[in-house]
Amino acid sequence: MNIKNYIESIPDFPKKGIMFRDITPILAHPEAMRYVTGQIVEFAKKVDANLIVAPEARGFFFGTPAAIEANIGFAPVRKPGKLPRETMSVTYELEYGEDELQMHVDAIHEGDRVLIVDDLLATGGTVDAIVRLVESRKAKVVGIAFVIELDDLKGREKFKDIPVLALTHYE
Ligand code: PRP
Ligand code: ADE
Repeated sequence: MNIKNYIESIPDFPKKGIMFRDITPILAHPEAMRYVTGQIVEFAKKVDANLIVAPEARGFFFGTPAAIEANIGFAPVRKPGKLPRETMSVTYELEYGEDELQMHVDAIHEGDRVLIVDDLLATGGTVDAIVRLVESRKAKVVGIAFVIELDDLKGREKFKDIPVLALTHYE
C-alpha cells in the first residue's frame, strides 16, 4: 500500500512556512488503518514489546489499535493536568520555551519493554521526552514507530541506539 495516498499536505498550517502532513484521511479509511496497524504490530513483535506508550492526541489514533492487535497494554502520555491519579512529568524544549508531558506513575513497571508510537517524527523532542519518562521507571524503550518521518529535521539522530520504524518519509 502507498500510504502517501492517505496523507494530505497543507501549506502554511498552523503557521506560514510549515507544510502540515495531515493523517486524518488514514483514519477515514479502514484499509489504511489496517495497513498502518499491521505494520506497527509486526514491529512490536520483532522488538518483543510488552507495552505501547503514545502521546496525545495523534499518537493515540495509532497506538491503541496496535496495542489491541498485538495483545499488549497501552499507556497514554498527556499534557499536564489531564491524568487523574499520581503522575510523573518531563519537560522538553520547544522552538520557543518549554512544554511538559505526564504519565501515570503506575503505567510503567521496571523491566517493561516499551514501544513508543506517534503519527509523525519532526524534531524528535516529543518522543525524546517520552524516552526519558520511560527510562526513569527502569523500563526499556525497545522501539519507536511513526507513520511519517520528516527527514530534513533529522529527529532520528536523537535515537541512535533504538530501532526506529517510519512507514513513509517527506523531506
Ligand atoms: C505533533 C505530532 C508529534 C509531534 C512531532 O504533535 O503529532 O507528536 O508534534 O514533533 P516533534 O518530533 O518535533 O516533537 P502536536 O504537539 O502538534 O500535538 P497533537 O498530536 O495533539 O496535534
Ligand atoms: N508536527 C510537527 N511538524 C508537523 C508537520 N509538518 N505536519 C504535521 N504535524 C507536525
